[in-house]
Amino acid sequence: MKSLLRSTRLLTRRRLPLLVAVALVTGSALLARMHAPSPLLVAEARAAEKVQPVKSSASTDTRPDIVKRGEYLARAGDCVACHTAPRGKLFAGGLAMETPFGTLYSPNITPDAQYGIGTWSEEAFFRMMRTGITPEDNLLYPAMPIAQYTKVTREDSDAIFAYLKSVEPVREANRKHTLRFPYNQRKLLYGWRTLYFREGEFKPDPTRSVEWNRGAYLVEGLGHCTMCHTKINMLGGSSQSEQFAGGLIPVQNWYAPSLTSDKDGGLGDWSIKDIVDLLQAGISDRGAVYGPMAEVTYHSLQYMTDEDVRAMAEYLKTLPDNSGRKTGPSAATDTNLFALGEKIYGDKCALCHGAKGEGQLQHYPPLAGNQSIEMDSAVNPIRIVLNGGFPPGTKRNPEPYGMPPFAQELNDTEAAAVVTYIRTAWGNHGKPVTAHEVNELRNAPLH
Ligand code: HEC
Ligand code: HEC
Ligand code: HEC
Repeated sequence: MKSLLRSTRLLTRRRLPLLVAVALVTGSALLARMHAPSPLLVAEARAAEKVQPVKSSASTDTRPDIVKRGEYLARAGDCVACHTAPRGKLFAGGLAMETPFGTLYSPNITPDAQYGIGTWSEEAFFRMMRTGITPEDNLLYPAMPIAQYTKVTREDSDAIFAYLKSVEPVREANRKHTLRFPYNQRKLLYGWRTLYFREGEFKPDPTRSVEWNRGAYLVEGLGHCTMCHTKINMLGGSSQSEQFAGGLIPVQNWYAPSLTSDKDGGLGDWSIKDIVDLLQAGISDRGAVYGPMAEVTYHSLQYMTDEDVRAMAEYLKTLPDNSGRKTGPSAATDTNLFALGEKIYGDKCALCHGAKGEGQLQHYPPLAGNQSIEMDSAVNPIRIVLNGGFPPGTKRNPEPYGMPPFAQELNDTEAAAVVTYIRTAWGNHGKPVTAHEVNELRNAPLH
C-alpha cells in the first residue's frame, strides 16, 4: 500500500492513460443509446438482471493476508489509473474523463461513509462488480470496465473490497458528470447492456492448462485489456471475433494493436519472453511500451508476479489469427519521399535506432520488423515521432531511456517522409503516410 501511494504521487507526470479508452467506451455506450432499445428490450433486460435489493451484511474479512491479496488484485485491475486524479488522494476519484458527449468524473471509492463506499457491504460491492449496478440501483457507465470485471470471482471481489476498506477514507464529494442530455440518462444504458454486456464469472477451459486459464482470467477480467485492444463498432460494442483485434482509441488518438496471432500486426512472432518483458519491464527485444500502454505497465503490470505475467503471455500467444497476413513486398512508395525519409533517418534517428533499424537492445527499440510501426494505422509511429516518449520507470527498468520529440524540428512533409521510410525500409510492410495525416495529429492530446 505504501508503494501504491508512492506510485500515485508520480501520477502528476504521467497523466491518465485510460481516459482515452474511457472516452471511447463511454462514447460508444452513449452511441449505442442512439439505436434506442425498444421498451420491450428494456423490460427484458430488467427482468434478466433480476435486480435484488442489497442485503447489508456487515461482515468483511479484513485479515492482513486478504487485504494484501486485495491490493495486488486492485493493481491487476488498475483501479488507481481511473480512481485517482493527478495530485489527488488515493482512490478519492475526481479524474475528469472527456468524451464527445460531455465529461465523466470518476467517483470516490475510499471507505468514507458519506462520500465514498464506506457504507457498502461486501455483497453490494460484489453485485456492482458482477452486474455493474450500484446499491442505489444505478446502472454504471461502461467507462467503468464492468463488461470485463463481471468475470471476477466472488473471492477476488471480496479481497479487493477488503483492501479498499483499508485505505485512508477521504472526505471529498463526487463531482457530477456533465454529460449532455440525453446521455445523462442512466436508464438508457439498458440498451447498451442488452447488446454488449454479458454478465458472468470467467469459466475456465478444462482442456487448457491451469496457467493458461489464469492468464485468460487476468487478461479478460481484471486486466480489462479488451477495453482498448478491440475494434469498437458503431454501436459501441464488438463482436466476439473482433476481441483483441486492435482498434483506434478516439479522442486520445493512439492505436491499440491487435494482440492476436496475426503475424503482421499481432503477437504471432513474439516469444513468451518478449511479451513478458514488454508487459512487465516496459521494454523488450521487440519494442517498448509508449502512450496509454506505458501507463498500463506503470500502474499495473510491473507489479504483477512473474508467474501471472507469464500466464498472461501464454494466453495471449494462443489468441487465434482472424485477419490473415500481409505478404509480399512493401507497398510502393514515392521515391523522392523515401529518399528524403532515408536522409532524415540517417541524420536524426540512426544514432539510437541503428543504421538498419536494428535498435540497441533493449533501450532503443528496433524499427526493422517492428509490427507496431507497420500496422495499417500509422497513428502510433507518427505520434511518437512528433511527441517523443519515455517508457515507464519500472522495477525492472527504473531509469528508462527516452526519445526526443521531433514536432518542432520536422515539418509535416519531413515527418511524413521519415515515418514512410521506417514503415517501408528494411522489408517492413507498412504503407506510406502523407503530410496531411501528420498534420492532423499535431494537436492530439499528449496522454
Ligand atoms: C477505465 C477507468 C476505470 C477503471 C480502471 C476502474 N474504474 Fe471504477 N469507475 C469508473 C467510472 C468512470 C465510474 C463511474 C461510472 C458511472 O458513474 O456510471 C466508476 C465507478 C466505480 C464504482 C461505483 C462508485 C459509486 O459511488 O457508485 C466503484 C465501487 C468502482 N468504480 C470501483 C472500482 C474498482 C475496485 C476498480 C479496480 C478493480 C475500478 N473501479 C476500476 C472508472 C474506472
Ligand atoms: C488504455 C488502453 C490500453 C489498455 C487498457 C491496454 N492496452 Fe496494450 N496497448 C495500448 C496501446 C495504445 C498500445 C500501442 C503502444 C505500444 O505498443 O506500447 C498497446 C500495446 C500493447 C502491446 C504491444 C503490441 C505490439 O504489437 O507492439 C501489448 C503486448 C499489449 N498492449 C498488451 C496489453 C495487455 C495484456 C493489456 C491488459 C493487461 C493491455 N495491453 C491493456 C493500449 C492499451
Ligand atoms: C535519443 C535516442 C533516440 C532518437 C534520436 C530517436 N529515438 Fe525513437 N525511440 C527511442 C526510445 C528510447 C524509444 C522508446 C520510447 C517509448 O517507449 O516511449 C523510441 C521509440 C520509437 C518508436 C516506437 C517503437 C516501438 O515499438 O517502441 C519509433 C517508431 C521511433 N522511436 C522512431 C524514431 C524516429 C523516426 C526517429 C528520428 C526522427 C527517432 N525515433 C529518434 C530513442 C530514440
